[in-house]
Amino acid sequence: MCGIVGYVGAPGSGGALDVVVDGLARLEYRGYDSAGVALAGPGGLATRKKAGKLANLRALLEAAPLEPASTGIGHTRWATHGGPTDANAHPHLAGSGDDEVAVIHNGIIENFAALRAELEAKGVELASETDTEVAAHVLAGHVAAVRGEGLDGGEALAEALRRTCRRLEGAFTLLAVRSGDPSTVVGARRSSPLVVGLGEGETFLGSDVAAFIGRTRDALALGQDEVVTITAEGATITTFDGEPVEGSPFHVDWDVEAAEKGGYSSFMAKEIDEQPRAVADTLLGRSDAEGRLVLDEVRISTEELAAVDKVVVISCGTSSYAGQVAKYAVEHWCRIPVEVEYAHEFRYRDPVVDERTLVVSISQSGETMDTLMAVRHARELGARTVSICNTNGSTIPRESDAVLYTHAGPEIAVASTKAFLAQITACYLLGLYLGALRGTASPELVKEVLEDLHAMPAKVQEVLDGLERVREIARFMADSRSVLFLGRHVGYPVALEGALKLKELAYIHAEGFAAGELKHGPIALIDAGQPVFVVVPPPSSPHGLHGKVVSNIQEIRARGARTLVIAEEGDEGVVPFAEEVIRVPACPPLLMPLLTVVPLQVFAAELAAAKGLDVDQPRNLAKSVTVE
Ligand code: F6R
Repeated sequence: MCGIVGYVGAPGSGGALDVVVDGLARLEYRGYDSAGVALAGPGGLATRKKAGKLANLRALLEAAPLEPASTGIGHTRWATHGGPTDANAHPHLAGSGDDEVAVIHNGIIENFAALRAELEAKGVELASETDTEVAAHVLAGHVAAVRGEGLDGGEALAEALRRTCRRLEGAFTLLAVRSGDPSTVVGARRSSPLVVGLGEGETFLGSDVAAFIGRTRDALALGQDEVVTITAEGATITTFDGEPVEGSPFHVDWDVEAAEKGGYSSFMAKEIDEQPRAVADTLLGRSDAEGRLVLDEVRISTEELAAVDKVVVISCGTSSYAGQVAKYAVEHWCRIPVEVEYAHEFRYRDPVVDERTLVVSISQSGETMDTLMAVRHARELGARTVSICNTNGSTIPRESDAVLYTHAGPEIAVASTKAFLAQITACYLLGLYLGALRGTASPELVKEVLEDLHAMPAKVQEVLDGLERVREIARFMADSRSVLFLGRHVGYPVALEGALKLKELAYIHAEGFAAGELKHGPIALIDAGQPVFVVVPPPSSPHGLHGKVVSNIQEIRARGARTLVIAEEGDEGVVPFAEEVIRVPACPPLLMPLLTVVPLQVFAAELAAAKGLDVDQPRNLAKSVTVE
């Protein structure tokens, strides 16, 4: 939430504005309530900021150009404190003369009311409703004090920021520039993301590597409670207490093309199409020639893993539906209880978790604050923690005992698609790994499931190639007011995900239900013409599951529902009760979500596009939810 960019180029190079605005364009998916920049040049600080998307800021910059500078910061906002207005847009200015500072911020400063009251008591007038402006004034006060003590240059701003951070509560990333020092940007992070990009004679700060991927792929990850100072020559890092520390260097393994639309109408369309690749890449290198699992990134000892007596999966949104799929697979292969819980609920009850619990977090961004806080809580309770994550160097994997990276590549569209398939794939791998370790999954079974998994990318491609009818249905249904989604077993989380995609992309009321639950109440919603998607398990499913779902379809059909059925090739049992049948290739029942969710993603994206909505940046949302 909120995209942050900082840049220092060689003195006199003058290109900071373009670099910062390019970075903001790549980070806009993190928030688009307003955008702003501040440049630090020989003449001091100059800012431009505007409510609305980055396009509004670009128009303002055209109407009111800035003098070239080599140092700058930029921000794209997801509003928390104060509405999405020009006044609340970042950067926020404070101080005066050589000690004027411009500050941008991601996160929430929890003690901002007390700090604001303190500032107002001193006669400071605040121009916005934001917690950020409060931080800017606290920083300006420390800058004046530090400079009064004789410190100057980058060290003055860094020391002032350290003192500021020691006064702040909450989670935050802050970046600042000072009018009297046009060759330095300082940044601080506590629980919110910030990475350093190391270029040739230029240095970057960004909420994530997308901010600078067009110019360098060499990066440094920062730890918790650290302050970084960047100049054109590089970065120096200290703790909030001033102890020098080393950042953790990493190389970004994707390039700028991966973060561009590449001829697609939207990032979402591109990312949906990249799903076969996301599944294949997540499987890549994870099994040896004999079909045995190789999971190098699980660094918890095999003894500890074998002793685990419960798995708890914590995550949010789409990632939590991947967790719900994991429950069916892990319990089946490992014979161990699996609880799946929203991260934001886990932390605020009194969960029964101890050193024999394996807590698996699932997060595309690796920065979701609810999930991060839940992981920290789990560790405090003594649990072993594994992170399934798509973002190298992000906070959640860094704070977990082990990580299983998904390799979906950068996901830019706010609504998750390819990361979801990659997460489900990683969950299967983890389940097989645990099952093999515990002796509940035989080597033959592991080999067989791995073979099945390796066949999935081609099957996902087959689904993608056959979706023209789904697109037609979506365009035809653009005026729908409500759509329901039913599923059972692993089809249930798919139904939930189908409903979430439709809500967030097309702003249509949508609900997902366990098909068996319908008769306990929700069936009252069904009347003539109510569209209902039904995710049907394969006829080969155990316990007569398929027949049960066919009965559920009949029940709603009898009450007038328009039934849109997703079923395996050759499943003729559904045909008499389906207004439309959307076919997916045959595969083992547990792996079906990798196929059945794809038509639902495409349906939601197509319907949203038919309504003229921005599928990449739906209203009110942001990728990477870094506030609780
Ligand atoms: C929905 C969506 C969100 C995220 C959720 C968790 O399309 O993208 O529901 O899944 O905010 O985000 P991560 O996976 O980054 O922790």
